[in-house]
Amino acid sequence: MKRILITGALGQIGSELTMKLRETYGTDNVIATDIKKNDSEAAQSGPFEIVDVTDLKNMVEVAKKYKVDTVMHLAALLSATAEAKPVFAWNLNMGGLMNALETAREVKAKFFTPSSIGAFGPTTPKDSTPQDTIMRPTTMYGVNKVAGELLSDYYFHKFGVDTRGLRFPGLISYVALPGGGTTDYAVEIYYEAILNRKYESYIDKGTYMDMMYMPDALNAIIDLMEADPAKLVHRNAFNVTAMSFAPEQIAAEIAKHIPGFKMTYKVDPVRQSIANSWPNSIDAAAAREEWGFKYEYDLAKMTQDMIEKLTYKLKMNKARAN
Ligand code: SER
Repeated sequence: MKRILITGALGQIGSELTMKLRETYGTDNVIATDIKKNDSEAAQSGPFEIVDVTDLKNMVEVAKKYKVDTVMHLAALLSATAEAKPVFAWNLNMGGLMNALETAREVKAKFFTPSSIGAFGPTTPKDSTPQDTIMRPTTMYGVNKVAGELLSDYYFHKFGVDTRGLRFPGLISYVALPGGGTTDYAVEIYYEAILNRKYESYIDKGTYMDMMYMPDALNAIIDLMEADPAKLVHRNAFNVTAMSFAPEQIAAEIAKHIPGFKMTYKVDPVRQSIANSWPNSIDAAAAREEWGFKYEYDLAKMTQDMIEKLTYKLKMNKARAN
């Protein structure tokens, strides 16, 4: 990877991935793109272009202009939004992916796109879900993710595009908010705990889902992209995870730092049924074996870091607003 184009660069993953890649590969070698520009560091600190992922011509032009050798396609709708707007989700998630793959083929670039635990469904084994298993998701997001994995494999076999992907669990971070996902509660809970010492969870107690802290997710992307292709048996996409917990467990961990923190429940049937259709915990053995996947943050370590960094961020935001 020498010159990287990122779509959806101002989203939850992109905002931090752009900065990390700029530190590692040089500011001018990371071209952030999104459908609109904002004031964020990712948009302001280096090359930025407006790219609508449904516009292939525009994407190819930008890739050629900057002579990129890697395309990282992050622009997509998350699970709950996709469930509310399934036709739009199909068009954006699949159309965007197809265009990004075509761009990579045209400019002979390596390719990364995230898949998700959402690619699994109710008939998938729920605990220690293996790398290769039943994948019959019941959500539009899941249908998009499975189709996306297959399409990425197709571009590798048919056209030789070096496609690689990760099945991410819920990603927890303090820089940019996720939008419209089922696992978003595990991010919101930190904001509410710091600001109001309480949180109303839309996911019910006892509902286990895999999660990962953003620094581990970013390292996983870079490690996979830098991995020796000869060692990759799988490509699209590797199970990765750092922890699995239910709402009452993250609440108990937060309460250790914020005494008096209280959680109540008001279950959202749509997001609850999406969560119920996903695994309790997935198995990342293939990622460990094929390219050395590892993580640093468990629930305790993540919670400590999240509370410290987010408290500082919210304080700065308040100071700026006054
Ligand atoms: N975080 C995603 C979602 O909840 C899962 O990939 O939609």
